[in-house]
Amino acid sequence: MQVTFRIKRFNPEKDTKPYWGEYTLDHVDPTDRVLELLHRVKWEQDGTLTLRRSCAHGVCGSDAMKINGVNRLACKVLVRALGTGDHVKVQVEPIVGLPVIKDLVVDFEPFFDHYRAVMPYFVPATAVPDDGRERLQSQEDRERFDDTTKCILCACCTTSCPSFWANGKYVGPAAIVQAHRFIFDTRDGAAQERLNILAEPDGVWRCRTIFNCTPACPREIEVTRAIGEVKLAIQRGV
Ligand code: SF4
Ligand code: F3S
Ligand code: FES
Repeated sequence: MQVTFRIKRFNPEKDTKPYWGEYTLDHVDPTDRVLELLHRVKWEQDGTLTLRRSCAHGVCGSDAMKINGVNRLACKVLVRALGTGDHVKVQVEPIVGLPVIKDLVVDFEPFFDHYRAVMPYFVPATAVPDDGRERLQSQEDRERFDDTTKCILCACCTTSCPSFWANGKYVGPAAIVQAHRFIFDTRDGAAQERLNILAEPDGVWRCRTIFNCTPACPREIEVTRAIGEVKLAIQRGV
């Protein structure tokens, strides 16, 4: 099959505004992934195309982009999911709401600033047990934050959220998911501090339950549900 890519290009060193570049590839297999095909565009047609990727297996979270209008990881999307027949058209753009550095690469610093703001690390509630072994936890307690441990910080959720587009100060769903992972961990002692941070004006209340974030998550985390649990914990306690 043949695939024509329409890719939003922008090089701030020479372009005054973004433009669309078109690239057609022959001999594409329906099971080829978008990332492989973007590599082909770069290696066979235009070496200046700039994108970010690392693992190529849906683990590192570095190749989030907007593919046919939806935030996805390029390494997880097969061409056959985007169309069938002899000729498929695919539109690719950078994720929205973060500054574009070049082509499909955006600046993640504002995203990581929000991540760092929610204390995304374990703060032990108790001293190390006398026997020097790990702090034990029941299976039920572990279950409370199991879903949010799966986050790979790809930003697909935050950059699909209209509240974040409207106000980049909103901490965003990814940071809330990361906070959730520690807030509901019975071994952690900083839940209230995180809840206080998230109760600030740029915290969870900027979420209007628009729900874009949940279907955008490549790890199938129930993002909106996690945000709802944090909202409830602010009102009623953990
Ligand atoms: Fe990506 Fe999902 Fe984590 Fe959001 S919650 S950053 S979409 S893995
Ligand atoms: Fe945004 Fe998700 Fe809330 S899309 S408004 S963070 S439910
Ligand atoms: Fe690592 Fe896609 S390249 S998640």
